[in-house]
Amino acid sequence: MSTIAHAHPNIALIKYWGKESIERNIPSSPSISLTINKLTTRTSVRPINDGDRFLFGNEQVEDEKITRFLEFLRHTYAIPPIEILTENNFPTGAGLASSASGFAALVTALNEEFKLGLAQSEQSVLARMGSGSAARSIFGGIVSLEGPTWAAQVLLKQNDWPLDIVVAITDDNIKDVSSSVGMTMSKESSPYYDDWVKSSETDFKNARKYILQRNFDRLIEVAESNCLKMHAVMLSTLPSLFYWNPATVACIKQIRDLREQGIPVFFTIDAGAQVKAVCLPGTGENVAHILSQVPGVLRTISATVGEDAWIET
Ligand code: DP6
Repeated sequence: MSTIAHAHPNIALIKYWGKESIERNIPSSPSISLTINKLTTRTSVRPINDGDRFLFGNEQVEDEKITRFLEFLRHTYAIPPIEILTENNFPTGAGLASSASGFAALVTALNEEFKLGLAQSEQSVLARMGSGSAARSIFGGIVSLEGPTWAAQVLLKQNDWPLDIVVAITDDNIKDVSSSVGMTMSKESSPYYDDWVKSSETDFKNARKYILQRNFDRLIEVAESNCLKMHAVMLSTLPSLFYWNPATVACIKQIRDLREQGIPVFFTIDAGAQVKAVCLPGTGENVAHILSQVPGVLRTISATVGEDAWIET
């Protein structure tokens, strides 16, 4: 009666923050991410007779992004009115890439339900039209997104480089300014925006090289620096985009202290207050324990590298 798909969110190691084209949702710079298991979106799709209906959990919602996305798809594909039922096992809209897993799961479900016959790279391009970061969540492992095709590509598969990931949740609330709105504001007003785009190209090339070499020490430098540069652009946007809270800063400090003590770990933060710690295998448990004691940390989630989006059978 319905098709159910699952997808994981991803955490960006080299960030996408800015659009070359709003209409075609083309990023201004290439990005790299790590698909993260444990956090999952589950989306079911079924044809219905009346107009489209979206349910988030058990609640019917209006979602402008999904409405626009379906409108775009129907230019090419014969998709009847549908009911979309989505659930996340993690906080939504709080900087944990729920739009990435959301659109990746939706495209995966639509492809199956309506026999669209799309290859994963084509699904990635479609998912990008819903949300840029969703292009990367079609795939597991470590994934890049670059032009000219802007279809995500797998750099390393799920088991090619085992890594531990700890997410420190410091705020469960929905962020004040969405990524889509925030990055457009940054392009219009941050004096650092052009330099950010230029330096992201270099960071991307370096990070890709270090990932393929599995050189964790060099990846630490480029990933933390790229993250802080994006937040510098956010801070210098008018009005300023300030996604952190005191616990976010305390986690950054704690992760740097752990590294001083010889623990191989680095931090990254997307558009929200949560801190993600990426560590070499075997260290995640210790890092989770220490981060859970940082004042203001509500809880931690321990994960590893996740797999491709999939259909529930
Ligand atoms: C900070 O993919 O949510 O997480 O394309 O407008 O939907 P839209 O933006 P979105 O932005 C993600 C921003 C980020 C960095 C990243 O994931 O690369």
